[in-house]
Amino acid sequence: MFHLSVLAGALALLSVVQAASSKSGSTMNVDGTFYYVPAIPVSRLGATPTQLKTAATFGEDMVPLTIINSGINTFNASTLASIVAHFETGDDVFNAGFLQTIYLQGESSIIMQDVSTSLNSYGTKLFMVSADTNCTIAIPAGPYFISIYTGDIYQAYRLYSDVNGAFTEGVFALPDGNYTTMSASLEGVQSLAIAVPSRLYYTATESQPLAGVRLGIKDIYDVAGTKRGCGNRAYYDLYPEKNASAPAVQRLVDAGAIIIGKMKTSQFANGEMATADWVDYHSPFNVRGDGYSDPSSSSSGPGAGIGAYSWLDLGLGSDTGGSIRNPAQVNGGYGNRPSHGLVTLDNVMPLSPLLDTSGFICRDAELWKTAAYVLYGDNITSVTSFPKKLYTTGFPENASTEAEGVLLSFLTKLEGFLGVTSSVLDYDSMWAASPQAAAANAPTLSDLLALTYPTLISKQQYALLGASFISDYGAAHDGRYPFLDPNPLVRWTWGQTNATTLEQAITNKTIFMDWWNNEVIHSDPDTCSDSLLLYPGTLATPNYRNVYIAPPVIPAGWGVYNIAIFAEVPDMVFPIGQGPYNSTITLHEEFLPVAVDVIAHKGCDGMIFELATQLQAAGITIIPKTGSTMFRRSL
Ligand SMILES: *[C@@H]1O[C@H](CO)[C@@H](O)[C@H](O)[C@H]1NC(C)=O
Ligand SMILES: *[C@@H]1O[C@H](CO)[C@@H](O)[C@H](O)[C@H]1NC(C)=O
Ligand SMILES: *[C@@H]1O[C@H](CO)[C@@H](O)[C@H](O)[C@H]1NC(C)=O
Ligand SMILES: *[C@@H]1O[C@H](CO)[C@@H](O)[C@H](O)[C@H]1NC(C)=O
Ligand SMILES: *[C@@H]1O[C@H](CO)[C@@H](O)[C@H](O)[C@H]1NC(C)=O
Ligand SMILES: *[C@@H]1O[C@H](CO)[C@@H](O)[C@H](O)[C@H]1NC(C)=O
Ligand SMILES: *[C@@H]1O[C@H](CO)[C@@H](O)[C@H](O)[C@H]1NC(C)=O
Ligand SMILES: *[C@@H]1O[C@H](CO)[C@@H](O)[C@H](O)[C@H]1NC(C)=O
Ligand SMILES: *[C@@H]1O[C@H](CO)[C@@H](O)[C@H](O)[C@H]1NC(C)=O
Repeated sequence: MFHLSVLAGALALLSVVQAASSKSGSTMNVDGTFYYVPAIPVSRLGATPTQLKTAATFGEDMVPLTIINSGINTFNASTLASIVAHFETGDDVFNAGFLQTIYLQGESSIIMQDVSTSLNSYGTKLFMVSADTNCTIAIPAGPYFISIYTGDIYQAYRLYSDVNGAFTEGVFALPDGNYTTMSASLEGVQSLAIAVPSRLYYTATESQPLAGVRLGIKDIYDVAGTKRGCGNRAYYDLYPEKNASAPAVQRLVDAGAIIIGKMKTSQFANGEMATADWVDYHSPFNVRGDGYSDPSSSSSGPGAGIGAYSWLDLGLGSDTGGSIRNPAQVNGGYGNRPSHGLVTLDNVMPLSPLLDTSGFICRDAELWKTAAYVLYGDNITSVTSFPKKLYTTGFPENASTEAEGVLLSFLTKLEGFLGVTSSVLDYDSMWAASPQAAAANAPTLSDLLALTYPTLISKQQYALLGASFISDYGAAHDGRYPFLDPNPLVRWTWGQTNATTLEQAITNKTIFMDWWNNEVIHSDPDTCSDSLLLYPGTLATPNYRNVYIAPPVIPAGWGVYNIAIFAEVPDMVFPIGQGPYNSTITLHEEFLPVAVDVIAHKGCDGMIFELATQLQAAGITIIPKTGSTMFRRSL
């Protein structure tokens, strides 16, 4: 039995303000699941209204439709059953309610008698074949909706509720290439409705390797037709919709990716911790463990969404000082800070152009690599042989916790895979002994670099964005100052008052970069990078979002995560397992992610992507599940 109704009450329809009046789509409920039906059809079936009306019950003007490709000589009950099974397992949008109406398209085939028994059991009211009627425009098999008056066929978008608050807006592509905000909502407190199209409509090809990949975009990238909010309410209100998408975004769209929404960023991509720092917007929920660990920042939305939603495949984030790596680690996904400069950041909000990078968070290493080749093109070097030297830093010698055991066991497996034995890289001592340290009068890397990051980001972001935002806002609001979250406020203020100069910071960054790339991790003609450096990314340590934290300070200091930032090299996060902790919230044992970071020479991103896919193929890493636990307990 299926139930279908056009909802008026439970589902609110908000009109999209564009022309004075325009259709903004509608919603349907099929077997208890909500769908968005776009305003514009994709094809039309030549069947007569009289035929189509037999598929509807009184009052319905649109009914669910399943299109099936015949492509075989005889079409029998078992063919139909296997197609339905394939649709049900391969697509979260299709459900058996769409079998209310079936259209068998393609070469006419002999339809066996047993099909009618199946149709009865599916509750199919109308079964049409190509010999009777054809589509005006060829469309792929899958679930659709059809108007019983016009025969117009509409794509089916399943609506999901953003219960973890990872998105800022659901978006939907218009035929002219602009995007509009989703005009429907579902039940769920402060939960946006995000619409995803059937996976059955898309087949990856050489020119569209990302066909149908559901993509969420951190809200610092321009997406044509939508506003760019950058995590600040005043900024969102002040500026109009963008008239074009950032080239980085457009590349993914051109390769077939489907943008399903803009995703949360901490304010102006500065680091913020849940909950007190997030004044303008609530921080997304990290679904791992007890669900109350900080999702980290600043690509918080992409990180939280990838951890929580099987219906989201890929998040586009940015990493200036850890903004992809940290959310990827704690939300349990892959994440890459690429080599600096691999792709243009035109039409993307700046933090520090000297440090800003664009990368992904996702669960599947294969998709990660495919998306990287789309985004970075020839700027990443492809090699298939791996470095012969493997270094670690910050690893425990022996495991004192289960999470440390996961880390050390991964290292052992990686040594076996690469056929090498790892050794500890003591770059601090190497620096202390170097002529560069003496020349710079900086005995430790902390002496050289502790103030470099805050200087670069605060001075560059204020000059490139803060000053004009404050003056534009004042001009529009009678001289008033816009609200700023505590973190960007502290940073911009420090940048404007501290005497440390941008030039000093650039000089120090350059000294480190040249030393690191010439003296520590070298290029190699065969393996791109002569070595890999691993460090622990996260070790299943809870970072509760319900604790009161101290007021923000500038992000000064030196740590292993700074290497990639200043040396411009790739630093990529692999989710390798999980570890237990006793939650102070659930009073129960829970599991949080264990991740390792992998660093190589500049431009060797392609080699690390290759390693990630080969480790996945070899079963050394496993695609994490979404939700509280990533894996069954023992790997
Ligand atoms: C149903 O059709 C398929 C494909 O044409 C064929 O391989 C299969 O043997 C048929 N099954 C039955 C029970 O007729
Ligand atoms: C629909 O197209 C098929 C070819 O794909 C053709 O054989 C069939 O006759 C067409 N049906 C109608 C009703 O024109
Ligand atoms: C989007 O709409 C604008 C006008 O609002 C138009 O100039 C532009 O060509 C449209 N398409 C894209 C892809 O930006
Ligand atoms: C798009 O916006 C930019 C700046 O916001 C402006 O310079 C450009 O002229 C606009 N393009 C169109 C086609 O409106
Ligand atoms: C490669 O990098 C250069 C320098 O950053 C950039 O100008 C170019 O657009 C990049 N190419 C691609 C395909 O992204
Ligand atoms: C680690 O284990 C090895 C062998 O089991 C032992 O020799 C070593 O002392 C241990 N190291 C630490 C820091 O406990
Ligand atoms: C640059 O390094 C020098 C030491 O050589 C240090 O005194 C200074 O504070 C550093 N400045 C910045 C901005 O990193
Ligand atoms: C700049 O800020 C640093 C870090 O807060 C502080 O130690 C230093 O004294 C300040 N320098 C000046 C000249 O304001
Ligand atoms: C959780 O608490 C139990 C009971 O105190 C203890 O046995 C167990 O080792 C703890 N687990 C972790 C991961 O700390």
